[in-house]
Amino acid sequence: MTTLKNTLCIISLFLMTFFLSTCKKEKDKSLYLSHIDEFLYLDKTQPTEVRVADLLKRLTLAEKIGQMTQVARDYLVSESDISDYYLGSLLSGGGSGPSVNLASNWATMIDGYQQTALAHRIPLIYGIDALHGNNNVYGAVIFPHNIGMGCTRNMQLIESAARATSEEMLATGIPWTFAPCVAVARNIHWGRTYESYSENPELVSQCGAAAVKGLQQDNIGNPTSVIACAKHFFGDGGTTNGVNEGNTELTESQLRAIHLPGYISAIQAGVATVMVSYSSWNGTKMHANKYLITDLLKGELGFKGFVVSDWDGIKKINTDYTLSIEQAINAGVDMAMVTDSYKFYISTLTDLVNKGKVPMSRIDDAVSRILKVKFDKGLFETPYSSSSLSSSFGGSAHREIARECVRQSIVLLKNESSELPLSKNTPKIKICGKMASNLGAQCGGWTITWQGNHGNITNGTTILQAIKDKVSSSTTIQYDTLGNSAQQADVAVIVVGEKPYAETGGDSLSLSLSAEDAFIINNVSKTGIPIVLVVISGRPLIITEIIPNCSAVVAAWLPGTEGSGVADVLFGDYNPTGKLSRIWPRDLSQVDKCNDNVVDPLFNYGFGLKY
Ligand code: BGC
Ligand code: BGC
Repeated sequence: MTTLKNTLCIISLFLMTFFLSTCKKEKDKSLYLSHIDEFLYLDKTQPTEVRVADLLKRLTLAEKIGQMTQVARDYLVSESDISDYYLGSLLSGGGSGPSVNLASNWATMIDGYQQTALAHRIPLIYGIDALHGNNNVYGAVIFPHNIGMGCTRNMQLIESAARATSEEMLATGIPWTFAPCVAVARNIHWGRTYESYSENPELVSQCGAAAVKGLQQDNIGNPTSVIACAKHFFGDGGTTNGVNEGNTELTESQLRAIHLPGYISAIQAGVATVMVSYSSWNGTKMHANKYLITDLLKGELGFKGFVVSDWDGIKKINTDYTLSIEQAINAGVDMAMVTDSYKFYISTLTDLVNKGKVPMSRIDDAVSRILKVKFDKGLFETPYSSSSLSSSFGGSAHREIARECVRQSIVLLKNESSELPLSKNTPKIKICGKMASNLGAQCGGWTITWQGNHGNITNGTTILQAIKDKVSSSTTIQYDTLGNSAQQADVAVIVVGEKPYAETGGDSLSLSLSAEDAFIINNVSKTGIPIVLVVISGRPLIITEIIPNCSAVVAAWLPGTEGSGVADVLFGDYNPTGKLSRIWPRDLSQVDKCNDNVVDPLFNYGFGLKY
């Protein structure tokens, strides 16, 4: 009896345990299900739209507005503001980096910001102007500025240069560049002419698309891709008189025909972000233009990424900053690039939403677009820098690509009696002009600092050094800046050009050579020895009167750190292929015609000699 009782007892205990454990499993299962559901946005196997929708519904208004804010790093009042205000992005403005400018310090700095950001749930996206290489970072390879890249007509090469740039960015922990600039510069008085590939919309759109492909590859999620930004939307290169941040006075069909193709092809190439232009169209600031940003860019062109303002671009709409914020966000700006006013921007936009002046649907659209790019880039899975690309930074493989860009960008404008190529055995060569031994000047603006600078600002090869490296041991190279004793030489290579500048700092009325450069050419030409003139500049200069004094003239643009590419052309290791990406005007009256109806320029669009 007891045995039976015991057996029954054991059986019921067993059944009970089984029942309870099944219950527990069921309970766990539902817990587990609700858990997956809770973190759906963290599940990388989910489609981006699902992740975006899942995260968006969890965000507070403060988190959303934080995501719509990009603060220039040197304006952060306290680093903890990154997480306290849920900032979506930080940027380095021109020249703003770690106190000791080394690639490894950049990565550490940006990883530090990311770590602070990850006190809340959304990673930062860090942006920089990597316009011709990762140009703020000491030791980065500096490529020719866009005007020269346009002269190569080589889309494969533009793509390779952008690829190399993306590797140098990732080596410093930076996933987003404010490039390519797809401005169509129509008037060379404009200080940003060198950021423009060409005066020709078709060439700009080809080059811009090639750059986007090089930066982003087929997919920004690729670990070796970075995020590109087509800028500045739009009409920035068409302002009256070439005034920077000025007014573009065109009919809509002219505006579209000249300034839109670059965006159409960048979007086709998958560009993930677009930056708005400071300029106005027929008196309306682009940052407030809902028709162009929302209806045209996001609607008609189907742009699915996000739109970032230019540096304090919203503040520049009008004197009433509150109204400017309302207008810009309602116009379709998704992320504001802000400096000292970031807390004001955040509290004001919050107020505007609470008062119903900016609809919640607009905020949700902006945040969804920003989150989409962050998910697509893989920032939730891989928020920190990776050291795997650091060995390629500033290395010989990238320098070789840049040197090839230099060779192919150079345009041979004149070559009387086949003065070029020079023989490597020429007994005596005079090198004149301060630009010959000036690495900073050959890189131009947006190099190490915003405006750029003269001298040994980074690693690279000056034109003088490149010539010394090129010639045979029997050749004497004399560097004589002012060309005072040139009569004793067989040939003089005179390197002249523009000092470095950026943006409004480069708006120029005269476009002539400096008095010193003109003096040198004059000085040497009196001796009767042949002159090879190398022009380092961000745009064509008015050299009509000077050309007759020179046997050969070479436009080298702003070649960057690889001066050896210039020597390759001068000494015939490369037979020039570069073709002008814009006309070279004879005088200022031709400049003001903005390339339309210019009859008989000094050199035509597409001009370029060979040996
Ligand atoms: C320029 C942009 C640049 C931004 C961030 C602005 O002044 O217009 O081209 O991307 O600054 O440095
Ligand atoms: C920054 C640039 C920025 C400019 C705007 C400079 O101080 O370094 O990145 O484009 O301001 O005016």
